[in-house]
Amino acid sequence: MYKLDQIRAQFPMLNNKTMQGKPLVFLDNASTTFKPQCVIDAMNEYYSEYTSNSHRGDYDLCYKVDQKIEEVRKKVAKFVNCEENEVVFTSGDTDSLNLIAYSYGLDNFKKGDVILISQLEHASNALPWFRIAELTGAIIKFVDVIDGRITLKNVKKAFNDYKNIKLVSFAHVSNVLGYMIDAKAIAKICHENGAIFVLDGAQSVPHIKTDFKDLDADFITFSAHKMCGPTGIGALIGKNELLEKMSTFETGGGMNIKFTSKVEMIPLPAPNKFEAGTLNVAGIIGFGAAIDFIESIGLDNIHEHEVELSKYALSKLEKCDDIIIYNKNSNSGIITFNRKNVFAQDEATLLNSKGIAVRSGQHCAKMIDDVIDTIATVRASFYLYTSKEEVDIFIENLINGGDILDAYFFN
Ligand code: ALA
Repeated sequence: MYKLDQIRAQFPMLNNKTMQGKPLVFLDNASTTFKPQCVIDAMNEYYSEYTSNSHRGDYDLCYKVDQKIEEVRKKVAKFVNCEENEVVFTSGDTDSLNLIAYSYGLDNFKKGDVILISQLEHASNALPWFRIAELTGAIIKFVDVIDGRITLKNVKKAFNDYKNIKLVSFAHVSNVLGYMIDAKAIAKICHENGAIFVLDGAQSVPHIKTDFKDLDADFITFSAHKMCGPTGIGALIGKNELLEKMSTFETGGGMNIKFTSKVEMIPLPAPNKFEAGTLNVAGIIGFGAAIDFIESIGLDNIHEHEVELSKYALSKLEKCDDIIIYNKNSNSGIITFNRKNVFAQDEATLLNSKGIAVRSGQHCAKMIDDVIDTIATVRASFYLYTSKEEVDIFIENLINGGDILDAYFFN
C-alpha cells in the first residue's frame, strides 16, 4: 500500500505553497525534485553541528566528515549495485559526462574514431562529445531513431554502417519522451564490437532500480537533485579497471599522493583521483539521506506509482481532440504534449497562471525536433509524491484552457 499522505507530509514544498495565488501543483519533476525534511535536516546538521573539511585534518570533526562521506559512497554503491571504488562524486550528471568525455575521450580517441549518440540526447550527453570530437578528430554519428525509440536493430545497423565506433552514449530514459532503452542488450552489442557504453541515468536512476553489474554498462551517470537530494551533487559510476586507467580530469588538492618541483604528480587511486578540491560535503550528506528516503519507499513502488499516474492522465488526455501526445506508450512518469495550434510556451504560461508548473520548449534536447517533428513541446513529469488530485487539477485546467488560449489567435 503506497502511503502517499505520509510521504507528502515530509516535504515542506508540498505544505500549502501557492503560485499565482493558486495551490502549487508541481509537475516539473524531470527537471528537479522537492526535498524531504530528512534531507534538509541532514545537511543542516552538517552545517550546524560538525562542519569541517574532508580528508584534510587530524581532528575529530574532520574524521567524522571523512566517515560520513565514505558511508554515502557505500550507500551509492549499494543503491546502483557497484563497488565502492567505482563511485566518483561529481557535481551532477553533466559533470560526470564531461569527466568521461575529457578523461576517457582525450586518452583514447583519435582522428576518424566514431562516437555514437542519438538525436534524443540532452545537451549534457551531446555537447561534451561534440567538444571532444573537435579536440581529437573523432566523428559524431547518430543512431537511427524510430518512433522516438532507439532499437537494438538500429544499434546493430549503426555498427555495420560506421566502422570504428569507439564509444556509444545514450540516455537510459529520454528526458522528453520518457522512453527507456534496452541498456543491457545495447551494452552487449557495444562490447561485442569493441566499444565502450556510457549510460546517462539522469532520468532512470531516480525512478527504477539500477543494477550496474547486471547492465554491464561501462559508465553510468546521474544527479542527486532529481531524486529528492540536493543540487550540485551526483555520481559517475565507472568500471574500476577503466577508472584506474583514465587520466585525471580536474587536478588540485585531495586527488594526489604527491607532486614535486620536478613537475610531476602521482594521483591517488580511483575514485579519489577524480575528486579534486573541497568536496560538496553537505551535498554528499544530503545525497545519502535522499537514498535512505527513496529506499524507505522502494523504487519498485515509486515506479508503479508514477506509471499509474501517467496511465490515468493519458486515459483522460486521449479523449481531448486538441491535445497531441508525443509519447503515448511511455512507461514512465513523463507526458509530453502540445495543444493543436498553440505554442508550447503559451500553454505553459497559461498553466502557470493556474498554479501548475510544467516545462515547455526543447527541454535541453535541441536535436529532438529532427525526431518528433515539432520545435517545442509541453512536458508534465510526475514523481513519488505527485497525487491523483494534482493530476486532476492539471487535466481540468488543460481541458478548460482552450478558450483562453484562443485569445492569442486571430484566425
Ligand atoms: N534535464 C532536466 C530536464 O529535462 C533539466 O528538465
